[in-house]
Amino acid sequence: MLITTAMGREVEVTGDYSIDQNWDQIPSADHERWDRLYARQSKILKNRACPEFLEGLHALELSSGGIPNYEELSDRLEKRTGWRIVAVPDLVPDPVFFEHLANRRFPAASFIRDEAQLDYIEEPDAFHDIFGHVPLIANPVFADFLAQFGKVGVKAVDLGALQQHARLYWFTVEFGLIRRNGDLKIYGAGIASSKGESIYSLEDDFPRRPDYDLMTVLRTPYWNDDIQDKYFVADSFQSLFETLSGDLMPLYKEAMRLGDLAHTDPRSKLAETA
Ligand code: CO
Repeated sequence: MLITTAMGREVEVTGDYSIDQNWDQIPSADHERWDRLYARQSKILKNRACPEFLEGLHALELSSGGIPNYEELSDRLEKRTGWRIVAVPDLVPDPVFFEHLANRRFPAASFIRDEAQLDYIEEPDAFHDIFGHVPLIANPVFADFLAQFGKVGVKAVDLGALQQHARLYWFTVEFGLIRRNGDLKIYGAGIASSKGESIYSLEDDFPRRPDYDLMTVLRTPYWNDDIQDKYFVADSFQSLFETLSGDLMPLYKEAMRLGDLAHTDPRSKLAETA
């Protein structure tokens, strides 16, 4: 079928929205931009990302130069955790996304940001999706967590709890911090792929950094067009994974019944519109 992407491009996709990456046709300027982003970001993350992220970056040879060939990258990833990458035009509908994750396929954008968007891009591109997300998927525990997230997502869609489930993704997979030997480290891809937020999330005095708690996360609104005012901190990937075991739908129902938590942050959009 033919779809129009968020960026206004018309793309022919299959039912699961996967497309051919067409790696051979990627312009050299795009590869070169990846290399610059990679060099800049890996330097910033050296002492800020959790060890599992840095290990995955190394193990998957993401530094070998240029935008990775998703097929070759998938072969390396599959050997470690059984996951593969599928190229997609950009964001895919939530039910399709959850189905991919539940089956250990990570949908990754096939395009890379242009020069003007080097520091910030709202929609996920290849740098965000691959550099930000894929290193941790090489970690067995996180890989299981992400697949479980997909499985829970399929049920959450049926329950009408998409908003609650999206918050879980947002506050863990995208913007999660983790505690390591008394220090905070980055694991969320939204942070890890952003120059400014890698520093801000750990070092700025403004954002709050509450402990991860599933019920609290499900009831906490977020905005995707502004810098974050809070980051939930996990104790370990194992404990994160364990919060997704069993039937979560009663908990999701309860989160919906209790409603959203009041937002007390003075700089927040909710405060402005309340
Ligand atoms: Co992302």
